[in-house]
Amino acid sequence: MGKRPPKDQKRHWTEVYARTPAFFGEEPSGFARRALERFRAEGVGTVLELGFGQGRDTLLFAENGLRVTALDYSEHAVRELEETARARSLSGRIEARIHDVRDPLPFPDDAFDACYAHMLLCMELTEAEIAFALTEIHRVVRPGGPVLYTVRSDHDKHYRAGTRLREDIYEVGGFVVHFFTEEKIRRLARGYDLEVIERMEEGNLPRDLYVVTLRRRPGPMPDQPEVTTVRNPMKKFEGFFDAVRENPALEPKTRGLLFLAASLSAGCGL
Ligand SMILES: C[S@@+](CC[C@H](N)C(=O)[O-])C[C@H]1O[C@@H](n2cnc3c(N)ncnc32)[C@H](O)[C@@H]1O
Repeated sequence: MGKRPPKDQKRHWTEVYARTPAFFGEEPSGFARRALERFRAEGVGTVLELGFGQGRDTLLFAENGLRVTALDYSEHAVRELEETARARSLSGRIEARIHDVRDPLPFPDDAFDACYAHMLLCMELTEAEIAFALTEIHRVVRPGGPVLYTVRSDHDKHYRAGTRLREDIYEVGGFVVHFFTEEKIRRLARGYDLEVIERMEEGNLPRDLYVVTLRRRPGPMPDQPEVTTVRNPMKKFEGFFDAVRENPALEPKTRGLLFLAASLSAGCGL
């Protein structure tokens, strides 16, 4: 049984922002306030922000003297932030640009003191695309610079709710979200010192987030470790499981028996 394709996410975010002037609230996030303290303590002057949305955190950083290069793939978001920055006389400190983080970052090596990404890496990105984005961030942040990000966690009440698309990526109410485990965060921290993983709640859902503090290690990004293929015997039954789960014509008992048969076949290496 084929899966319904997810709603185009770039268009979706644009529509959300067009109909809701402050989708994440008027105030800067708690995560941004904490990041600002850290940036101040470390003498950070330039920040690369990824997936800035409606700019609630970009404005906080710029109002506090930081120069922010803010990227988002929604053209609407970029136009909105440019207007707000102009209205608040912050254009000199905010450069908003359209950019998809699946593409190489358009900056030279070591261009920024720090990187900040609040709920961007948990968007519709595969683990390989996230690893690519983190490799690019490693290239453009100076050695020793902090890289702070948040992602939706595997403790979030929407984890495994909605429609599973692939990996740990689900569509929930039109939004595509990649949920993270601590193990995934550790796996993706190649080339960085992983200082801390914390938990935080945000909004009135509430969203359950991992707050990740990385520090860019000096030197080039290490090569990808050689991929050792660990055979997952359940893998080839994934499509079958999805089809059984989503078939409304099947009785719960029949469904259970089909799952059992597939699991036994996988266990026997069939
Ligand atoms: C969950 S929102 C967070 C917005 C903002 N950081 C905040 O907390 O207010 C995620 C943002 O990432 C942007 N985004 C999603 N996928 C992206 C991608 N591949 N490249 C660039 N931006 C992306 C969306 O347009 C959206 O504005």
